Amino acid sequence: MTDDLFDTDEAPGGRLVLGPGAVLLRGFARPVAAALHAQVAAIARQAPWRHMATPGGRRMSVATTNCGALGWVSDARGYRYAAVDPDSGRPWPALPAVLSTLAGEAAAAAGFADFVPDACLVNRYAPGTRLSLHQDRDERDLQAPIVSVSLGLPATFLWGGLARGDRALRVPLRHSDVVVWGGEDRLRFHGVLPVPQGHHAEWGAVRVNLTFRRAR
Ligand code: SIN
Ligand code: FE2
Repeated sequence: MTDDLFDTDEAPGGRLVLGPGAVLLRGFARPVAAALHAQVAAIARQAPWRHMATPGGRRMSVATTNCGALGWVSDARGYRYAAVDPDSGRPWPALPAVLSTLAGEAAAAAGFADFVPDACLVNRYAPGTRLSLHQDRDERDLQAPIVSVSLGLPATFLWGGLARGDRALRVPLRHSDVVVWGGEDRLRFHGVLPVPQGHHAEWGAVRVNLTFRRAR
């Protein structure tokens, strides 16, 4: 079950409260969006996009890479954070300052001071790709928020509750939007509906999402 969210529901300034610890900051990443494009390209040169295997043995349709001290990985052994890229045996690319600064500023704007991420999961969605409802719960420190930056093609974010079957709100996410969730909303279920076909002037026919986490 879902509810649709319309742009008219938003407060001026493009700030949409999604819960006591969750907010959508419309266009928050816009000032650094061009720099993010160059940084994501550099990250993908060092740690190429890959489709990880789920613990159940399926290939994820979302393509993934990471930067930061820790990277989120999935394989037959399960989900976890690892300091080394399993494809190369090398550490993940460092978290660029422009990314960590953006994450810290977005967290602060959402009411979470002093957020210093140590992991950034980079997801790439081709049109038609979706991400099913899940919780982000592989991080050791659930006190820190999640900061999620949307780039490229627009998509519909599913914002659920604390139980999988709870009604989910459909939230339109566009290029340079940032969603922050923490506190009592830290374990809310969330996902992404299939990304519609399209072309973004800078990113082409993809949506890229950066999620910043405090993993340990
Ligand atoms: C995620 O839940 O890791 C990604 C969410 C998104 O792509 O907006
Ligand atoms: Fe997630």
